[in-house]
Amino acid sequence: MKNSNLLIFLFLFSALSMSGQGTLRESADKLNKHIGVAVSSQFFSFPADHPYKTLLKTEFNMVVAENSMKPANIEPVRGQFAFAYADSLLSFAETNGMKVRGHCLVWHQQIPKWMNNDQLSREELSAILKEYITTVVTHFKGRIYAWDVVNEAIDEKEPDTYRKTVWYKVLGPSCIDSAFVWAHRADPSAILIYNDYGGEEMNAKSNAVFNLVKGMKERKIPVSGVGLQCHFQLGKLNADEMKKNMQRIAKLGLQTQITELDIAIPSDQFTKENAEKQAEEYKQVMSLFVNDKNCTCFMLWGLTDKFSWIPGFSKGKRGNALIFADDYSKKPAYNSMFNLLKKMAGK
Ligand code: XIL
Repeated sequence: MKNSNLLIFLFLFSALSMSGQGTLRESADKLNKHIGVAVSSQFFSFPADHPYKTLLKTEFNMVVAENSMKPANIEPVRGQFAFAYADSLLSFAETNGMKVRGHCLVWHQQIPKWMNNDQLSREELSAILKEYITTVVTHFKGRIYAWDVVNEAIDEKEPDTYRKTVWYKVLGPSCIDSAFVWAHRADPSAILIYNDYGGEEMNAKSNAVFNLVKGMKERKIPVSGVGLQCHFQLGKLNADEMKKNMQRIAKLGLQTQITELDIAIPSDQFTKENAEKQAEEYKQVMSLFVNDKNCTCFMLWGLTDKFSWIPGFSKGKRGNALIFADDYSKKPAYNSMFNLLKKMAGK
């Protein structure tokens, strides 16, 4: 074989074997399903050819900002909006044909001090929230696939099941309805989600979330669905119970989204066996997603273990929660989801 022919052969061979391998995104695209990750702040300082960015655009068709679109980052000083990081993430996503989730508009954490003030009058705090939602949703209008409009407003241990946030204390629970109405007015085409943790399966938390969104539907509030965060700890998932919960939400005419999945392993138990167990649980969640038309996206809360929030959040007690290792290599959890997606896409 001539040298030039050999080169062409090698190129075709490697292209074929690469396409034989494929990516999560290739299968997800074929299935018309959204899979994505939360993008950590390190993203913004990486060069264009960094493995973080390469993996992001080859493996996923959706992104969400892990922190850069939260109120503390978007309006740190009253009246001064800081959209630069979010804008650059959107332009990366759009260049690479990826969709963007917006996270989040109303939360009790990561809000600027000036906003987190229960001494403000009802009129003033209501005007602040309305202006914030209207400005931010309008800024990104038509470019955000789904907004987490309200995040973690339920505390099932409270007698009335509402978390006692600054919003609740000053405005009362009706501010949840108002937030959805204001967001819908600013971008009528965006999917609007109520997002929470711990209510993935059938339990007191998911009952309270269910009652909240049921009431919203009855009041004709423009809520499109429920975000199931899915911050799991290894060995706790009951996929049947999660399916039941997803089905009861579907019956309300609402979609479900898997918004922040990670499966944390105790730091003293990073064994090969547990990596396999984790792979099995990731596959179970992926299976719920691909087999349910009403479940419209599947988001991991981070790309690589290196930047995962779990070690910090658990004070070092847990980690290893994602599907790419510190060195960006694929973990068993990646492979289990890849195989399932590929099988479904090939059907
Ligand atoms: C977390 C981020 O991952 C951390 O980097 C940050 O310090 C705190 O917030 N539920 C949510 C997310 O809705 O916004 C949280 O993200 C994780 C729990």
